[in-house]
Amino acid sequence: MKRTRWYKDAVFYQIWPRSFKDGNGDGMGDLYGVCEKLDYIKSLGVDGIWFSPLYPSPGADCGYDISNYMDIAPEFGGMPAFQKMLEGAHARGLKVIMDLVVNHTSDEHEWFQKSRRRIDPYTDYYIWRPARPDGKLPNNWDSMFEGKAWQWDEVRQEYYLHLFAIKQPDLNMDNPLVRQEVIRILRFWLEMGVDGFREDVITFISKQDGLPDAMIPAMRGIFRYNFGPHLHEYLQQFRREALDDYDCVTIAECALITPEKALEFVEEKDDSELDMVIQFDCMSADCLFTDYVPMPFSLHRLKNAFSSWQKKLEGRAWNMLYLENHDHPRVLSRYGSERFRLASGKMLCAMYLFQKGTPFIYQGQEIGMTNWLPDSVELYEDVQTIHHREHLPEDQRLRLYHRASRDSARTPVQWSAEKNAGFTTGTPWFFINPNYLEINVAAEEANPDSILHFYRKAISLRKQLKAVRDGVYRDYDLLSGRFYVYAMEEKLQRVLVICSFSSRVQHFKAPKGYDLSKGRLVLKNYGDRLDGNGFHAMPYEVRVYVFE
Ligand code: NOJ
Repeated sequence: MKRTRWYKDAVFYQIWPRSFKDGNGDGMGDLYGVCEKLDYIKSLGVDGIWFSPLYPSPGADCGYDISNYMDIAPEFGGMPAFQKMLEGAHARGLKVIMDLVVNHTSDEHEWFQKSRRRIDPYTDYYIWRPARPDGKLPNNWDSMFEGKAWQWDEVRQEYYLHLFAIKQPDLNMDNPLVRQEVIRILRFWLEMGVDGFREDVITFISKQDGLPDAMIPAMRGIFRYNFGPHLHEYLQQFRREALDDYDCVTIAECALITPEKALEFVEEKDDSELDMVIQFDCMSADCLFTDYVPMPFSLHRLKNAFSSWQKKLEGRAWNMLYLENHDHPRVLSRYGSERFRLASGKMLCAMYLFQKGTPFIYQGQEIGMTNWLPDSVELYEDVQTIHHREHLPEDQRLRLYHRASRDSARTPVQWSAEKNAGFTTGTPWFFINPNYLEINVAAEEANPDSILHFYRKAISLRKQLKAVRDGVYRDYDLLSGRFYVYAMEEKLQRVLVICSFSSRVQHFKAPKGYDLSKGRLVLKNYGDRLDGNGFHAMPYEVRVYVFE
């Protein structure tokens, strides 16, 4: 089927289902809740929803440990609620994208249960290794979440590989039967009418032959399975045998990817393996590769990340744009300022929404939700968080978790100032950020000057501006440690975006070739006064000018 690449005109909203909205009062977000809020989602001006996993799962990694790929978890409402949601979304012109998590399953998946008992054809569905005579593990790889990457299985009397939690055994993608399962899963959901997939850690699916020891101690093992030898071959097979029959979108999560490497997967051709990649550079302006190695925020790193992806994919591939998802703390608390919440929440919105690519907005981002900061490490739930630096003294752990934990962004969406933030009438499955009394959707709706209304305006403007879709990105003031300034430039239209990352008043001077008095100020979070060909920028001020 011809790929129309419809996603180039789309903005997506990400739902992390447990915390979006509870519709049946059991304290857990669900698809009834999503149905209730479809009009709200549509009102943002977005065109589609990416759902983090909705499948049955024991919940060891909040749904990323799947026990049945062809069903919807009962706690989310099961298949009937999903179908209702899908119809409701499509009726409103919203696309629906599922999470495809096939690097691993849950250990409670039937395949694993049979594999550990050597029941064919499942015997080689996972990566099993016998014990070694010297008593050592099969290799020296670490798991991302829990200690070593190998777990002894009493039933099978062998080790299995788990790059993530112990309850997430890695599938053996080298087994053609496993690839057929993936193809079945893809076709199943595409036939049902879903519009594409976000592919979880997809670059890990092909491990190096023989699973050799890692040489580099840091991030031990990742270079032995990231971008493995058969990755392209497997992605091409998924495309040929499933994706190509549908006009769908694929967005691949890719750790440690550079724009140059990304082109191998997403360069626009009839047979490109994937449509967009989720890179991590834009998440690394205040840390070193992972949130767990914090560093002071650097505007230079942030600008470099955005600029290099914009420039290197220009004319060749399409960017996926994001500032938040369920795997990182809230962006306002990281790159913005809680003290200047209103200003910085808006500035961050415009900072990425006018770039070229398909923007994703994570639930709660549009109302400027901030990090949840509990006062004890005991309150954290997330499997990645709780096993991180377990040996550190509690106060140090707490400080680190405050800075890095995914739980900071996983608290329920704050709908109103009512009980439980209007998220549930029951007992919420997780803590609610106590700031819900001030920060909530109802309050944002009521205030015409809110972050929420700013998002709506920015999304709608983005769609009207040809230069954002078809122009070429150009950055200005690259050396400035206070301003991020870029333009999208096209023959008849130029869009200039000026973002201050300073909490003080700073003078801004327009770049050469731009006369601000001739531009149309289409979006702003303060006033419109000029001072020569520039202005005194207030803390976290943003202005978007259009020149035609
Ligand atoms: C990436 C997902 O986004 C994250 O939430 C999950 O824990 C890991 N992959 C493992 O599936």
